[in-house]
Amino acid sequence: MPRLKLSNRARQTPPSPIRRLAHLAERAKKDGKSVYHLNIGQPDIHSPVEFFDAVRTFSDPVLAYDRSQGNELLCRVWADYMNRCLGLNLSAEQFMVTMGASEALVFLFMTCCDPGDEVIIFDPTYANYIGFAAVAGVTLVPILSDLEHNFALPSYEKIEAQITNRTRAILLCSPNNPTGTVYSPEEIQELLAICEDYNIFLVVDETYREFVYDGLEPFSVLQLAPGSRRVIVVDSLSKRFSLCGARIGCFVTWNEEVLATTLNIAQARLAAPTLEQAASAHMLQTVSDEYLSRVRREFEMRRDVLFQALEQIPGMMAYKPKGAFYSIVQLPVDDAEKFAMFLLSEFALDGKTTFVAPASGFYMQNGRGQNKVRVAYVLESHELEHAVAVLRAGLEAYPGRTE
Ligand SMILES: Cc1ncc(COP(=O)(O)O)c(C=O)c1O
Repeated sequence: MPRLKLSNRARQTPPSPIRRLAHLAERAKKDGKSVYHLNIGQPDIHSPVEFFDAVRTFSDPVLAYDRSQGNELLCRVWADYMNRCLGLNLSAEQFMVTMGASEALVFLFMTCCDPGDEVIIFDPTYANYIGFAAVAGVTLVPILSDLEHNFALPSYEKIEAQITNRTRAILLCSPNNPTGTVYSPEEIQELLAICEDYNIFLVVDETYREFVYDGLEPFSVLQLAPGSRRVIVVDSLSKRFSLCGARIGCFVTWNEEVLATTLNIAQARLAAPTLEQAASAHMLQTVSDEYLSRVRREFEMRRDVLFQALEQIPGMMAYKPKGAFYSIVQLPVDDAEKFAMFLLSEFALDGKTTFVAPASGFYMQNGRGQNKVRVAYVLESHELEHAVAVLRAGLEAYPGRTE
């Protein structure tokens, strides 16, 4: 039978760099090795009990569809939560609840762009932006931010040089996945100025907003531009409350036209999950502030443990991040993907190995990130220490080591 044709869009969507080597990890486990997963940002902290309590006591006789724009109570309490933490004055009408930040990003690409329109992003980038853009037919225009300059944002002029008559938005992730960078209000203000000068949207993915360290306070672009119709914030409960599996996210904007237009798309997919929205609303109303303070302290401590261990590796280079729970680490190898494969397939220390994500998959520009990996510090401190000890011993045993 002649081959059935599939779309270029689907075939050109790159596989996730986080999961690309997962089959090797599976094989390592079948062969009896334990694997430290530093490759994926799946937090191990327990989700708030308040969420599960609400699931257990859910008493509607039918699990019906909720509103397409999101559960009314959830929109209200999410607004209350942001108003309380950030000193804002949002109302429920400015929210659109989605299936994770992921769906919010797909919706926004579809609402703000026609196929072939462009969105500026910063390289390295959260790799799934590439998949979301492919699905929506949007062209991402990457501008490099580099490890040598702590992944600071490029200058106004460098960004301006990439703007064309097809540019519709700048998309920033802060605190950043995969670099851990927390951009300052001044840097974000500068982006806002460019967006104003060129009349384009500024979309900020604040999935990791509360994960900030070294005395920094959670910050939102909404604080810089109250009432702005140009600013859209993407948010999620996945990381903040260890609720990745609930698939609850949202976007927030003062732009009624964006909300009303996206609603047409949201109606076509009917609704986000009812039970998880109800449980999230209950949780946001009842969880104590101490839950998040504890989570934040724990990740800050893990970051410090990770860096103390990484600093023992000769030839390693990394920028100590101030937020999220990731770091891009340069290793003394030419091809970090081959090294990651070696760790999974050929190496173990005391029956254990470490899974890191090759950083090349987080760069849109080919050939970048070849000697780097992304590390997610989502394990307890003693496991992190051992995972890095495995990495270090693996480097010593690796024939492709450059130093
Ligand atoms: C920067 C960033 N944005 C969005 C997402 C997707 O989040 P969600 O689980 O809410 O879809 C992630 C998940 O890792 C992320 O790191």
